[in-house]
Amino acid sequence: MLAWEIYGIITAEFFGPVQVWNAGKGRKMVAELNLESVRVKIRPAVMADVPGIQRVADLAWSSTFADRFSPELIAEVLANYYSWARLADDVQKAAAFLVAEADEIVGYCHFRWSSSSASQVAPAKQLVSANQRALELSRLYLLPAWQGHGIGRELFQKGLERAGGACAVTLTVEKGNWRARRFYEKLGFKPVGERIWTLGTGSIELVEYILL
Ligand SMILES: CC(C)(COP(=O)(O)OP(=O)(O)OC[C@H]1O[C@@H](n2cnc3c(N)ncnc32)[C@H](O)[C@@H]1OP(=O)(O)O)[C@@H](O)C(=O)NCCC(=O)NCCS
Repeated sequence: MLAWEIYGIITAEFFGPVQVWNAGKGRKMVAELNLESVRVKIRPAVMADVPGIQRVADLAWSSTFADRFSPELIAEVLANYYSWARLADDVQKAAAFLVAEADEIVGYCHFRWSSSSASQVAPAKQLVSANQRALELSRLYLLPAWQGHGIGRELFQKGLERAGGACAVTLTVEKGNWRARRFYEKLGFKPVGERIWTLGTGSIELVEYILL
């Protein structure tokens, strides 16, 4: 059944042996924890995953953007872009919507086909001609503790395969989100323009990227 079709299993190494020291002058090691490797399953999202995706979005947005955006702005993005209705629609219509799952959902990626109307305004999409198959990476988020273990790259690659490939992939990333920007640049994305996303409670500066 599609719901449990598995696109890949990766093993995330968590820290290796971790030494725990007591505080103060006579520092003594009090424990050594050997945290095990964790298996992470990458599979297509289904409707039942929506609450898990919302939880990841909530925690990832709060930890990534708390120092730059007001709680009201973050709440507005989550209420609109991550409402149950919006996510349920996206899960059904996506070019690819995958989740990374350990004992719970720890991350997700969402690709959609670029709309031709958006190409009127978005610099990245202007580089793609009307008859080319361009994908937009709309969302890629991991829980904070799961970042930096190769899961983001795996979600991206499996999502691209699931969508059937494309001549180009576009995305936007918040201008000050250097961690994500370096990650995308490592994947080969190039910055091609900037624009501002205006919401009711504020605005977000975005950088547009393209992978050709
Ligand atoms: C951005 C994000 C999706 C990346 O996923 P990740 O699992 O942490 O990244 P990975 O571990 O798969 O890294 C993949 C590659 O990018 C590199 N990379 C990751 N973060 C990097 C950084 N900050 N600087 C330089 N390179 C970085 C890794 O070294 C790795 O390269 P390698 O495979 O050659 O070693 C993840 O960190 C995240 O969810 N961040 C918070 C939410 C967010 O900002 N999402 C993007 C919104 S547009």
